[in-house]
Amino acid sequence: MSDDLTLQELVQYLAAERGPDLRGYKHTSLERRIRKRMGEVNAGSFRDYLDQIRANPAENVRLLNTILINVTDFFRDPQAWQALRDEALPGIVSSIHPGDTLRFWSVGCASGEEPYSLAILISEYLGPALLDYNLKIYATDIDEEALAVARRGEYSIEKLRRVPPQMREKYFIGRGPLVRVSRDIRRLTIFGRSNIVSDAPISHCNVVVCRNVLIYFDSSTQNQVLSRIHYALEPRGVLLLGKAESKLANSSVFRPLNTRWRIFQKSSPGNGEDIGELRPRSRVQAGAELVQHEMESLQLYQRYILESVKSGLMAMDGNDIVLNHNDAFVQVWGIKGNRLVGKRLQNTELVYRCPELLARLDNSRDNQGQPLHFQCNLKTDGDERLLSIVIRPVMSENNDRIGTIIHTEDITDHERLQGTVDQLEATSEELQSANEELETTNEELQSTNEELETTNEELQSTNEELATTNEELQSLNEELENMNEELEHRTQELHQLTQRYAETLRSMPWPVTLVDDDEKIQLWNAAAQRLFGVGETSVVGVGIDHLPVKLEVRNALIRRYRSVLQKAKPSVLPRQAIGASNYPGDFDVHFTPVFRNNRQVEGVLVMFGPRSQVTVPVSKPKRVAAKKTARKTAAKSAKKTPRKGKK
Ligand SMILES: C[S@@+](CC[C@H](N)C(=O)[O-])C[C@H]1O[C@@H](n2cnc3c(N)ncnc32)[C@H](O)[C@@H]1O
Repeated sequence: MSDDLTLQELVQYLAAERGPDLRGYKHTSLERRIRKRMGEVNAGSFRDYLDQIRANPAENVRLLNTILINVTDFFRDPQAWQALRDEALPGIVSSIHPGDTLRFWSVGCASGEEPYSLAILISEYLGPALLDYNLKIYATDIDEEALAVARRGEYSIEKLRRVPPQMREKYFIGRGPLVRVSRDIRRLTIFGRSNIVSDAPISHCNVVVCRNVLIYFDSSTQNQVLSRIHYALEPRGVLLLGKAESKLANSSVFRPLNTRWRIFQKSSPGNGEDIGELRPRSRVQAGAELVQHEMESLQLYQRYILESVKSGLMAMDGNDIVLNHNDAFVQVWGIKGNRLVGKRLQNTELVYRCPELLARLDNSRDNQGQPLHFQCNLKTDGDERLLSIVIRPVMSENNDRIGTIIHTEDITDHERLQGTVDQLEATSEELQSANEELETTNEELQSTNEELETTNEELQSTNEELATTNEELQSLNEELENMNEELEHRTQELHQLTQRYAETLRSMPWPVTLVDDDEKIQLWNAAAQRLFGVGETSVVGVGIDHLPVKLEVRNALIRRYRSVLQKAKPSVLPRQAIGASNYPGDFDVHFTPVFRNNRQVEGVLVMFGPRSQVTVPVSKPKRVAAKKTARKTAAKSAKKTPRKGKK
C-alpha cells in the first residue's frame, strides 16, 4: 500500500482535523492550487504536506489563502448592475410598504466592494425614500482577512474607477490616495464570516448577490449552495449570479429575469423541475436537514452574539488551535490584518504581546475547569494597555477539557478612572481630616479668644484701678509737694531761727559754749574766743576736758556739767578763777540743760559770767517759800504784840 494520499483523502483529513473544509470545491482547480502551495513549502506528496500542516497549523490559513481568490471591484460588470436596478428593483420595491424591511445578501463579498455597490445602488434608487425602509445588506465571506478590509471600508482611489463621479462625491469620503465609504453606506452593511457550503444562510432576503463564488464548487455543491440561496430568498426574491454562472438557465425554481446578466427570481418550488437539494427527500434526509438547519441557525446566533459583545472572545480547540474569535478580540489585542483562525496559540502574535499567556494557559489546566483570571500589560507598538484576561476551559459532560475560551477586556481606561477615583477619595479624606483639624483649631481659637477676652476685661479693670491709683498718687504727690514746700519753708524758718539763736549766742557779751551729751564742744562764741584767746575752729568738736583752763577748774566744770546733764536741772558754779590772761577775775559759771523735744537732755549751755554782773538765779519755789516764811514771821510777831485799839 502506498504511503501517499489522494487529493480526496487529504481534503477529508483537513476537514476532519479542523483545517479548511474544501470538500465541495472543484477538484481540478483545487489540485492545481494545492500543488502550487506544496511547491512553495517543498512538500513532495499530499502525505508530506498533511504532515507539514499538522506540524504547523498556521499552514491551514496559508493554504486557504492560496485557494480563495478575492478578485472583486465596485460595480463589477456595470451592465449587470444596471439590469438589476432597472429590471429587479422596481418589482421588489413595489411589493413592500414604507416601514418594511428590505434584506439584501452578498455571498462571497470578498473585500466589500460588492455589498457597498449594492448599498449605493439601492440608495440611489430609493433616494430620500430610503429612510422609509429598514434596509439591511448582509455581506458574508469565508475569508477573515478580506472581511477585515471590507469592514474598514477604505480603498485606494483607483478602485473607484467604475464609480460615476457624482456617486464618488456622494458616497465616499476623502480625495485620495485613500477614500472611505460614507457613514450612511457603511451603516447599511453588516459583515460576517460564513461558509456558504456549511453555515446557516441569511433568511428572508429580497435580493441575493452571489457572483463568482459558485465557480469554486463542483456541481453538487453548487446545487447545495443554490438550494440554500433559494431557502434564503423571500418569495419573488431576486438572485444575481456572476456572468459565468449559468447553472440556473433551465431551473424551474428560479425564473430568469435577465438571462444575459444572470438575474433570476425565486418561484415556488415543486412546480416542475427541481435542482439538486430540492429534489423530493426521504424522511431521514428531511430530519437530518432539520438538525443541520438548527445547527446552522445556532452557529449564526453564535456568530452574531460574538459580534455583539464588546469584549474580545476567542475559542480554541483541545490542541489550542484558534477556532473562532470576534472582531473585538483583534481590536483589543491590537492585531491588524493578522489571521488567528487555524493557528496554534503559541504561533500567534498574542504570545508576543502577552508573554505570560502560555504559562497561564498551562496553569489553567490544573484549575479543575475553573476560569483563571489575570491582568496583562499589553506590549503594543505605541501606547500601553492593560488587559483583563480570563482563560475559561470548555469542559465536556465527561469533564474532559475539549477547548478553551479566552475572554479579554481592555481595562486601561477603567484602571485609570479607578486610579483617579482613588486619588479623589484620598484627597477627599485628606480634606475631611484637614477640615476636622480646622474645626478643632477653630474651637481652640474660640476658647483662646474667650480666655483673651476675659484676660482683656481683667486687664481693663486693672487698668482702671491703676488709673484711679495714679490719680490718687497724683493728688498725694501734689499734697506732698505742698507739704514739701511747707517743710522747706519751715526748714528755712528753722534755719533762720537757728542762725539767729546761734548769732544771738555768738554775739552775747558773755562767753558761752554749748557742750553736747558726748562732752564735745559744739558752740564757741566770740566772747569765749576773746576770753580764752582760742578760735572757734580750734575748739568746736573738741572735748570739754581740753578747755584751756586750770586743771582744778576744768575738773570742777566737768563734774558740774555731768551733774546737770544727769539731773537735767540748771546750776551755777560760783567764783571760779578761770585764770584767763585778759580777764583775771572770778566767774560764776552757769550750766543750763538744753532739751531735745522737751524730754531728753542733748547738751548743756555753759556761760561764764563775771561775778559782779552775775545775779545768782533764784528759783521760783524758793521765792515763794521765802515769801511764805516772811509772811509767817510777820504773823508770829503780830500775835506776840496785841493791838492797842481793842483793849
Ligand atoms: C472571486 S471572489 C468574488 C467576489 C465578489 N462576489 C465579486 O464577484 O466581485 C470569491 C469570494 O468567494 C469567497 N468564498 C470562497 N469559498 C467560499 C465559501 N465556502 N463560503 C463563502 N465564501 C467563499 C472567497 O473568499 C472570495 O472572497
